[in-house]
Amino acid sequence: MKPKIFLTRKMDERVIGPLQEKFDVRMWESESEPVPREVLLREVADADALWAVISDTVDRELIETGKKLRVIANMAVGYNNIDLESAKEHGVLVTNTPDVLTETTADLTFALLLSTARQLTFAESELRKGNWKSWSPMGFTGMDVGGATLGIVGMGRIGEAVARRAKGFNMDVLYHNRNRKPDAEAEHGFEYRELDRLLEEADFVVLLTPYTPETAGLIGARELGLMKRTAVLINVSRGGIVDETALYNALADNTIWAAGLDVFETEPVPLENPLLSLPNVTVLPHIGSASIKTRLAMMDLNAQAIVDVLEGREPKNIVR
Ligand code: DGY
Repeated sequence: MKPKIFLTRKMDERVIGPLQEKFDVRMWESESEPVPREVLLREVADADALWAVISDTVDRELIETGKKLRVIANMAVGYNNIDLESAKEHGVLVTNTPDVLTETTADLTFALLLSTARQLTFAESELRKGNWKSWSPMGFTGMDVGGATLGIVGMGRIGEAVARRAKGFNMDVLYHNRNRKPDAEAEHGFEYRELDRLLEEADFVVLLTPYTPETAGLIGARELGLMKRTAVLINVSRGGIVDETALYNALADNTIWAAGLDVFETEPVPLENPLLSLPNVTVLPHIGSASIKTRLAMMDLNAQAIVDVLEGREPKNIVR
């Protein structure tokens, strides 16, 4: 019997085709609708490999249901949707998709920063509503990005790629990270700061830290209160890093100037989320890595990891 792979979303034919020649490939046939929990549990029960996406909750119950599971390939660099401890306990390897999405995610981060600073989506929606009545001296005015100070919280691969882009805008780059980056400091002049100092000094604060028990709720009312009243917060990591109620209050009472959010505590973000009612918030549907080339490259990494494990080789990108 061929080993079974279960894919929680419909993936591109170019990547799936070769897998189907060797394996029993089962797939939830929707690209946008998540697989219902009961289907996931049923399919995983006799699967050798699970190919998951970040909106799938791969918890202890699921891992224990997958008695034959050998690998979980997650289509993301983040893996906070997976219970790593139970995967380890049950000898199931977990793999992710780093590197291939670094530049694409840095592009989106910078696009969101520019868009939030200059209120692009707000200005566009006002135009479409017929609210562009005449050229106005202070109409739709925003914050300058060129020459401003950028503070990056979480200076991993994506953080460094964002910082390199910032240099092209003559920005001063501050960063906060678990470990100092002496090479990046020496080569590019990026400067390390403790978190509170970074929040006080930066004009733009970009959150790129992984979502872990230590970073959950990292930015709350106290931290937002440290930021400049003219500052902009950009979150492209995970929604849970920011206390959304505190962020709403800080934006509503102008403690900070604006926020650009690609991620939310609950995704898809419910339309009732009060943040969506504010004009000084630019929102996107978690599209950091969403270029065609990058998403295909992520699929390739997942497929290769599964093939490697099922054929007895050590896969690349094991999450340790
Ligand atoms: C990741 O890779 O972790 C992104 O958030 C999903 O594109």
